[in-house]
Amino acid sequence: MQWILILIFSIFCLFTLTNQWVRKSRKYESVNSVASSYDSWTNDRLLENLWGEHIHLGFYEKPRIKKDFRKAKVDFVHELVRWSGLNQLPKGSRVLDVGCGIGGSSRILSDYYGFDVIGISISQEQVKRANELTANRDFCSFEVMNALDLKFEKGSFDGVWSVEAGPHILDKQTFADEMLRVLRPGGVLAVADWNQRDSTKHPLNFFEKLIMNQLLIQWTHPEFSSIEGFKNNLLNSPYCGSSVETSNWTKYTIQSWNESIYEGFRRPSSILKLGLRSLLKAFKEIPTILMMRWSFSRGLMKFGVFKSRG
Ligand SMILES: C[S@@+](CC[C@H](N)C(=O)[O-])C[C@H]1O[C@@H](n2cnc3c(N)ncnc32)[C@H](O)[C@@H]1O
Repeated sequence: MQWILILIFSIFCLFTLTNQWVRKSRKYESVNSVASSYDSWTNDRLLENLWGEHIHLGFYEKPRIKKDFRKAKVDFVHELVRWSGLNQLPKGSRVLDVGCGIGGSSRILSDYYGFDVIGISISQEQVKRANELTANRDFCSFEVMNALDLKFEKGSFDGVWSVEAGPHILDKQTFADEMLRVLRPGGVLAVADWNQRDSTKHPLNFFEKLIMNQLLIQWTHPEFSSIEGFKNNLLNSPYCGSSVETSNWTKYTIQSWNESIYEGFRRPSSILKLGLRSLLKAFKEIPTILMMRWSFSRGLMKFGVFKSRG
């Protein structure tokens, strides 16, 4: 009898969550929908409590290596700094963090590498929170700004950094143009992005199109570019001063998807203390996280990194 009740309750929960997941998608409509999604993800503190101050994947140098998820995120920042050559810039260099979240990367770039960092995000609440979390505001500050309309002069930064903001941006060419415009000649560009397989070479089948549709509508993504496509956006920019190098870091980052779910079980209090609503919200993300994991493991999605000199 008890088992029947548990079964009915589980079916009810599954039905409610699936229903919520399918009906209440967070589809991209404009930059405003991205801003309001991040405003709400910031204000409810769910992401921050669960995954810390970095809203990006972690770096795992070997498959199935044991590493704290938050440490893997910090490692990711240092790996991208090294790979892109940002660490060759002298202390005091001006660096722009495009799509800065609540400032996790910006603070490392400022505190550890000694750069003078400005982070920009479309979300007002993220900028507010980033400023609250930053002790050294003279060398690390944040502003609300659209990545597609940067309010800075041409060539005003020694380095431009952007991690996982690209999937939220519809006009990838203007995104590339704006980052390269504000970079000084010889400066360093470092970008990490979630990319789709190049569908001009390998079109998506029916099932892959269904999955891709969910990946887009669940987390306010208008479109993913391919690694080749965004490389061309950078190369085609009138502000591009040199060659562009790319690499596929899927194998170093894919473990993050499982870890992001395990974190909820490792730190249950981080969700439970926020209440039942947050618990349901966290559960609602699990199908999308699993689909992301599947897509990256099958090559439908790729984790692209890009570097160039201005
Ligand atoms: C996945 S989060 C990554 C945050 C941060 N880079 C990190 O690694 O922790 C994506 C970020 O891109 C920002 N973003 C998305 N579209 C943007 C736009 N058009 N202009 C400025 N920021 C944008 C979001 O507000 C958010 O901060």
